[in-house]
Amino acid sequence: MTQKKKLYEGKAKILYSTEEPEVLLTYYKDDATAFNAQKRGQIEGKGEVNCAIAAALFEWLESLGIPTHYIDRPAANQMRVKAVKILPVEVVVRNRAAGSLCRQTGLPEGKVLPFPLVEYYLKNDELGDPLLTGDRLMLLDIITQEQLTQIKEMALKINEHLQDFFNRCEITLVDFKLEFGLDAQNQILLADEISPDTCRLWDRRETDPQARVMDKDRFRKDLGQVESAYQQVQQRVLAQIEQWRQSVNK
Ligand code: TMP
Ligand code: ASP
Repeated sequence: MTQKKKLYEGKAKILYSTEEPEVLLTYYKDDATAFNAQKRGQIEGKGEVNCAIAAALFEWLESLGIPTHYIDRPAANQMRVKAVKILPVEVVVRNRAAGSLCRQTGLPEGKVLPFPLVEYYLKNDELGDPLLTGDRLMLLDIITQEQLTQIKEMALKINEHLQDFFNRCEITLVDFKLEFGLDAQNQILLADEISPDTCRLWDRRETDPQARVMDKDRFRKDLGQVESAYQQVQQRVLAQIEQWRQSVNK
């Protein structure tokens, strides 16, 4: 697999074309940003860790009937993915109150929500990824009602699967962000990544509200030990994936 041309460089990944037009190569970087890139840094080894976690979770979700863009992982920090047109909507699913939900509603951090909250944010850095309403989504004409219904259904299913999965890792899935894309046949595929950069993950073996944080909030809030937290997530996720592989003989 040879990379051809750099198509796009995002905050955490670089996208290259390949000799196959329907296949792209994603290179996961160690760069970390927060607060719309106002805070910048590096998390050593993050590219490889996030690539390994995302690849494992995509493969597992695919086996459960969730279509994803994942093809394979030719190198530790590289993922081959199906070329999709990314929908400019970030879909956030929340099981507990944290982050912007607490800031904007006053709900106490950690409160278990009575139902999984699905939210849509416009994927637009210049505008600071604002929270959208369903009607604003329709107004902007970036997604059809039918696609929106399908995406919400997929997001809720993914949440059920991931909650189960992380429970088995002794990790609470607080919330996470998903992105979806359309392939050449206009099928909706789960895209981007699922990793400690894009999820809030709390260690169930810890009760202290800072010690339990295993995700990018360690970087956002300067809690220290970012690398080791990411590695711990990788270890637990890959151990769980290994159990799954053995149970299905993969
Ligand atoms: P929030 O509470 O800051 O809105 O974040 C909700 C979830 O989305 C959290 O798991 C972190 C993730 N997220 C991203 O992946 N990218 C982003 O740019 C932001 C703001 C949040
Ligand atoms: N990824 C986003 C950024 O830099 C925000 C975040 O994850 O907190 O800017």
